[in-house]
Amino acid sequence: MTRVAVIGAGPSGLAMLRAFASAAEQGADVPEVVCFEKQDDWGGLWNYTWRTGVDEYGESVHGSMYRYLWSNGPKECLEFADYSFEEHFGKPIASYPPREVLWDYIKGRVDKSGVRDQIRFRTAVRDVSFDDDTGRFTLTSHDLVGGHTSSEEFDNVVVASGHFSVPNVPQYPGFEKFKGRILHAHDFRDAVEFSGKDVLIVGASYSAEDIGSQCHKYGARSVTCTARSGPMGYDWPDSWAEVPILTHVEGKTVHFVDGGTKEVDAIILCTGYQHHFPFLPDDLRLESRNRLWVSGLYKGVAWEPNPRLLYLGMQDQYYTYNMFDAQAWWARDVMLGRIELPSAADMAADSAAWLEREEALGTAYEEIDFQGDYVQDLVDATDYPDFNIEEVNRMFKQWKADKKADIMNYRDKGFRSTLTGTMAPVHHTPWMEAMDDSMATYLMDEAPESGG
Ligand SMILES: Cc1cc2nc3c(=O)[nH]c(=O)nc-3n(C[C@H](O)[C@H](O)[C@H](O)COP(=O)(O)OP(=O)(O)OC[C@H]3O[C@@H](n4cnc5c(N)ncnc54)[C@H](O)[C@@H]3O)c2cc1C
Ligand SMILES: NC(=O)c1ccc[n+]([C@@H]2O[C@H](COP(=O)([O-])OP(=O)(O)OC[C@H]3O[C@@H](n4cnc5c(N)ncnc54)[C@H](OP(=O)(O)O)[C@@H]3O)[C@@H](O)[C@H]2O)c1
Repeated sequence: MTRVAVIGAGPSGLAMLRAFASAAEQGADVPEVVCFEKQDDWGGLWNYTWRTGVDEYGESVHGSMYRYLWSNGPKECLEFADYSFEEHFGKPIASYPPREVLWDYIKGRVDKSGVRDQIRFRTAVRDVSFDDDTGRFTLTSHDLVGGHTSSEEFDNVVVASGHFSVPNVPQYPGFEKFKGRILHAHDFRDAVEFSGKDVLIVGASYSAEDIGSQCHKYGARSVTCTARSGPMGYDWPDSWAEVPILTHVEGKTVHFVDGGTKEVDAIILCTGYQHHFPFLPDDLRLESRNRLWVSGLYKGVAWEPNPRLLYLGMQDQYYTYNMFDAQAWWARDVMLGRIELPSAADMAADSAAWLEREEALGTAYEEIDFQGDYVQDLVDATDYPDFNIEEVNRMFKQWKADKKADIMNYRDKGFRSTLTGTMAPVHHTPWMEAMDDSMATYLMDEAPESGG
């Protein structure tokens, strides 16, 4: 029997399992699927851990999410086209749910599909190699609980191990003698730690914006954001400043290229992540920075030098869950032989055209349209339910405008589901006042008496 290995049971890996389950439900003959997941539960980054550094088995901790993390985009933009939020929760909910609510939604669909027994939890993939003679992969994994390493063969390997876990950690002169705490966003867990403190944030992307906002919300005295490629430019609270990039640190004083200084208690490096696949040999390993078109992957999925290897979720992400689905459905159809791959030259030409377009992108709106077109291309090639991508693009642009208008309160806005047509209700508590991010409190129809 044909065998498929899926590495990772985050939203991308679970999309792969769901895609095969969906084909099986329609009577297709599907391969044996084995999913390897090094954590003890599914959901990838959405499976929160308090741990940092290494876990109880000495494995590097995958989790980069933190307490009080709420969706940073409208849920209507990521809704699975075959499983609406309303179906899952049994009622309409507001547009920017906290992490636990989104985790529950992810789990709901795969629970229903009955795919959990395809996953080997607490099993880390250590090595993958390809044999040109047999046309098969040998995958070596480590059962962390049992302490055994074993190898087995697969016809296809799907890499769904994420790329927002292994931090990119730059060094600036004086860090080694800084009289405070320095950490990367990957190890940030609770903004309360920075209450009453002066915090320096390095970087100007989503982590910088959100971790800075968290620190402000939970009582930091000041937030200073230092970036090398320009300020984020939002209308920040008075205790927030955007300054040019730092040059060095002396004691607790940070120096910036414009000659300015700031004394801070903590430095949080929101400097992004590395695509990191220590289990792959050079000839199978994707190398990329975080960008919308990743080179080497036909349709952003199939490893061009050897398309029996497929990658999911490797691009920078406006679209998330529904893009992972579209990729997984496409990958499934390649593996089932429903989609025939063109010649290597034609794959390369197709990818080059996408890359050229990506390199010419200027604005966020253009980036949104680009990723929307990419998702549409995949949806058109498969039986993944067609959803209104033009409308999702429009919602992303509205989200951008909402942030520009009021960065601390954009999460109080609501959007309409493209699947059910339902307008999201206003949440019972404005985001800035919502200190409790539990699912129980979020799903209440009214704010609890103690405050939401
Ligand atoms: C701080 C943060 C906040 C985010 N917030 C949002 C948000 O609000 N909305 C949104 O849509 N997206 C958000 N994202 C984007 C996020 O990347 C996606 O939502 C999604 O989690 C990506 O899914 P994935 O399955 O590709 O990767 P991951 O979620 O990273 O899952 C990968 C899985 O692979 C497993 N794995 C890795 N290596 C191995 C190995 N060697 N062997 C076995 N298993 C392995 C990991 O344990 C993990 O379970 C956020 C990302 C970060 C870092
Ligand atoms: N739900 C939420 O609220 C939430 C919160 C946080 C993150 N996220 C998600 O997490 C993902 C990752 O976001 P991210 O912000 O961590 O990574 P990112 O988008 O890749 O951004 C990395 C940032 O680090 C900067 N940087 C890199 N190296 C640097 C250096 N040596 N010195 C100074 N700056 C440097 C980059 O600046 P340059 O532009 O100059 O390279 C960029 O601003 C995104 O998908 C995001 O949506 C979501």
